[in-house]
Amino acid sequence: MRPVHLPVLVREAMEILKPERGGVYVDATVGLGGHAGEILRLIGGRGLLIGIDRDEDALLMAASALASENVVLRHSRFSGIEDVLAGLGIERVDGLFFDLGVSMAQLKQTGRGFSFSSDEPLDMRMDRTQALTAEEVVNTYTMERLALILRDYAEERRAGRIARAIAARRRERPIRTCRELAGIAARAYGAAGRGRIHPATRTFQALRIEVNRELEELQAGLDCSPRVLAKGGRIAVISYHSLEDRAVKHFFKKAAMEGQFQVLTKKPVRPGPVEVRENPAARSAKLRGAEKL
Ligand SMILES: C[S@@+](CC[C@H](N)C(=O)[O-])C[C@H]1O[C@@H](n2cnc3c(N)ncnc32)[C@H](O)[C@@H]1O
Repeated sequence: MRPVHLPVLVREAMEILKPERGGVYVDATVGLGGHAGEILRLIGGRGLLIGIDRDEDALLMAASALASENVVLRHSRFSGIEDVLAGLGIERVDGLFFDLGVSMAQLKQTGRGFSFSSDEPLDMRMDRTQALTAEEVVNTYTMERLALILRDYAEERRAGRIARAIAARRRERPIRTCRELAGIAARAYGAAGRGRIHPATRTFQALRIEVNRELEELQAGLDCSPRVLAKGGRIAVISYHSLEDRAVKHFFKKAAMEGQFQVLTKKPVRPGPVEVRENPAARSAKLRGAEKL
């Protein structure tokens, strides 16, 4: 059975994106096609939806969910959006949508190495055609670099201690599985780790961001938006942790000061209690939007 991924803040995202009938829209994180399906419904048969994902498995799922003539799917990443559009002979689009991070399908799919409770190889690549894996990061980066990654990408308070524990363990033998790494992080926390969240949560978040260069990719996606959006075109971004939200907020603010964008969300839009109850994965979601001037 395929893992279910419930799309987050769909109505709110559509209110910002305002897909118009006949318009051309990019969903740069097409995933399982939840938001894309709604965009498709709103643009109607004469519109065009370009769905991008860096995960080829996601594209297969999107292809079956969005079987329609006015959908084009491409294996690419945020830094490749302009190349995808150039390849299609499209200069400007009416909307650009990002629903950041990983999908439930990726988290739950065996063999992807995203989940700390699994005995799988430390992989964590969204795009399995890329070379760098979490195993390489954990076993080859210096202890100092690992500590910085844990601190900067996940605000991990015990970054130094966890990095030291990783370095000590890998001197004995390479760290190969998610469970081994989760155990190392849990031991570095000791009794203090018996809280609400698993003590390895931040370690896994930080590694995932590093392996997939998530912040660099997000910046590339944001940077191209003033160039690819038509006048009056809109961008909507859903983020799931503070580093991403901060990058989006700063980018919109700067673009507004430069007269490129009008910000549509003074504060981020958050899911209501009903959505969070039905889909706990939505609890940290923040949606921001802007319009090209
Ligand atoms: C949260 S899921 C999107 C789910 C989708 N909105 C839906 O309703 O099914 C994020 C998706 O974006 C993809 N992704 C993340 N970062 C990406 C990037 N830099 N370039 C392209 N795709 C990316 C992931 O592979 C994943 O499939």
